[in-house]
Amino acid sequence: MAADDDVEGAAALRAAMVCELRDQGVIRSEAVVAAFTAVPRHLFTPGESLEVAYGVDNVPVVKRGDNGLALSSVSAPHLQALMLEAAEITAGMRVCEIGSGGYNAALVAELVGDGGHVTTVDIDPDIVGRARAFLDEAGYHRVNVVLADAEGGVPDAAPFDRIIVTAGSWDIPPAWIDQLADDGRIVVPLRLRGTTRWIAFDRDRSGSLTSRDYGLCSFVPFQGIGSHSERNVTVDDGVVLRLDDENLKVDPEALRRALHLPRIERWSGATFDMPDEQMLFLLTNEPDMALLHAEQKIVDRRLLARPVLTGVPALIGGDGFAYRAARTNGATGGYESGVYAHGPSAEDLAARYVELLCQWAANHHRRGAASIRYVPRSVAPPPPASGVIPKRHGTVVVTWP
Ligand SMILES: C[S@@+](CC[C@H](N)C(=O)[O-])C[C@H]1O[C@@H](n2cnc3c(N)ncnc32)[C@H](O)[C@@H]1O
Repeated sequence: MAADDDVEGAAALRAAMVCELRDQGVIRSEAVVAAFTAVPRHLFTPGESLEVAYGVDNVPVVKRGDNGLALSSVSAPHLQALMLEAAEITAGMRVCEIGSGGYNAALVAELVGDGGHVTTVDIDPDIVGRARAFLDEAGYHRVNVVLADAEGGVPDAAPFDRIIVTAGSWDIPPAWIDQLADDGRIVVPLRLRGTTRWIAFDRDRSGSLTSRDYGLCSFVPFQGIGSHSERNVTVDDGVVLRLDDENLKVDPEALRRALHLPRIERWSGATFDMPDEQMLFLLTNEPDMALLHAEQKIVDRRLLARPVLTGVPALIGGDGFAYRAARTNGATGGYESGVYAHGPSAEDLAARYVELLCQWAANHHRRGAASIRYVPRSVAPPPPASGVIPKRHGTVVVTWP
């Protein structure tokens, strides 16, 4: 039987998906339960098995670029649920989804009901065609599907009570803020110093945005006029620094020499968990941080330790660098954070890093500790500081109250 025809099997897996998301505390409201229960996700993932369609963390890729990287995918139910709960969409709202696929727009259509209005916009004609066809097949004829570069928003359908962005964005274009109602909310995956957080922002009358909630996520990149590439600095074969900040000066040759010097290690005595929260703290409290990545062969040669495989915040000095380490803490059964440092200034860099690890553990060791603001160009810019991240159209300000 084709996946599309197994209506009962699909309904059972859909119910199990909703149960799992509820048990995880990801779905919290009855409205979101009802939306996820109503929309047949498998109709938006043709060619995939029902098990793949309804897996809470599954992200079926729809299109890849020439480099093999995903350009479009159907986002994971887990992430869609988190973002929809953060959006708090209610009946009658006007909502714009940026980045289409059809499924998430159908969920939003369930949330806004017959009195509301949903627009979904995508830059890719193939994706727009698929979304329109799938939405029609599933009965969501009223969803407005638009082909455009969403850098300009969708002025014809504005204003919106909610905007949900489903592609990884480096900045927040003025059109999104302009097209948001005065007390509207935008949920956007925003890249901050190389890592992306979905952030639910409330707009105030000046056009500034203030976060209510955020979480780590990963999305296909925003394309078109608003796309933004990171700077990749090769330190050695298989070792790269990813820099999201144009002002950070790096001497790759000096760092390469440091890499081949013996490392020192220093331990903080502080707990290590919630790596995503700790990472945001490190990246936004020290302007000389970048993400250090390396390949397995570098770890196998014991030049660098395992955290570099997925990217780790590294404090960059003129002639050396330091990065976060972790080891088991026999006394607590958990982990302790520490630092590996290389180069002539290793001792200083390690001390600065350990100080940050201790600050985070003592004062900010919890989920959602940061407060994030976006100040558009039209509003007076905040003075430079370590948590102040300049963007093209405004400034992100991350503070740790
Ligand atoms: C993760 S997919 C969207 C998933 C979808 N919301 C769902 O229901 O699962 C991200 C989409 O963003 C689109 N996109 C990227 N840059 C864009 C831009 N500048 N304007 C509009 N869409 C864009 C891509 O073509 C891609 O289809």
